[in-house]
Amino acid sequence: MVYNQTWQAVKINTMDTKDKLLSDLKASKGAWISGELLSRKLSVSRAAISKHVSKLRQVGYDIESVPNKGYSLKNVSDLLLAEEIRDGLETKIFGKKEIIYFTETDSTNTKAKEFASKGAPEGTLVVAEKQTMGRGRKGRSWFSPESDNVYASIILRPKIPPSEAPVITLLSAVATAEALISLTDLKPRIKWPNDILINGKKIAGILTEISMEMDAVDFIVVGIGLNINTKKEDFSREIKRLATSVFIETKKRFSRAKILGEYLKWYETYYDIFKEKGFKPVSSRWKELTDIIGKRITVDMISKKYVGRVVDVDDEGVLILKDDKGKLHRIYSGDITVM
Ligand code: BTN
Repeated sequence: MVYNQTWQAVKINTMDTKDKLLSDLKASKGAWISGELLSRKLSVSRAAISKHVSKLRQVGYDIESVPNKGYSLKNVSDLLLAEEIRDGLETKIFGKKEIIYFTETDSTNTKAKEFASKGAPEGTLVVAEKQTMGRGRKGRSWFSPESDNVYASIILRPKIPPSEAPVITLLSAVATAEALISLTDLKPRIKWPNDILINGKKIAGILTEISMEMDAVDFIVVGIGLNINTKKEDFSREIKRLATSVFIETKKRFSRAKILGEYLKWYETYYDIFKEKGFKPVSSRWKELTDIIGKRITVDMISKKYVGRVVDVDDEGVLILKDDKGKLHRIYSGDITVM
């Protein structure tokens, strides 16, 4: 597939010389490797090795070079590069297919939808360092400063009717929570349908967008915005009240690529479970990760507002609310506030 170069997309499918060089430098764990050895291993000239080292430096790899010693990788790049996302990635498909990387884009969801409508396969991942028009649910904007957080969208092509699509949103929330549990000491909780909260503040949001053909899903784009290294002072006063980041909660900087890789791993795990066994096993985990059941809430919908107690979230991801007159309502989407 050919992507429009003006989008600054970088498509990486196979290991080229630069990737192999990086992999050799990583394997030597900071020890020196001579230019001669690298040139023999990779069957390219020493000048070519030096050119590829320069390219790696340009994208943030800290590589030292000393005459008669060779090259040593001191630090990997902080950027959300495909090489870093793929390093140690334990998936079969997600992140193993195409990773389309933008230094800056309007919205990874918008781009992923464009690629999907041109036939990009399931598992294609679109990532960006910065979004200029990051989108949230209900037409809101998503705070997307450069190189601090994860802005990523996955293309899915599940063979399900559109009515089942909401469960994909809940599945995404479970995968996000699992990734944070695996890599940090944080205790994420899910707020229906798919906000991830730490101590009541939002650390991640998910935007699911569906394209339908007749009565089948053509593709689904699941976009995740995960606040990782944003500092408190970087949020506006308004966002500060509501949002947090892994850094704010743990006082530690985390590798965005590692967290995204972990998310992809959990995503694929739950997606496979969903395809094989349906939503029930995923919804059981979702329920363990939420505090919403039994809580009194208000639900703001476009034209209505409900007040009542949450009885359940069913196996289709629908919130069941009992209002004060005892009447049950099935809520498919909306903003909830716990009272
Ligand atoms: C929410 O409102 O909670 C959903 C926020 C989703 C933000 C992510 S960032 C990556 C992807 N691209 C977007 O424009 N939005 C999603």
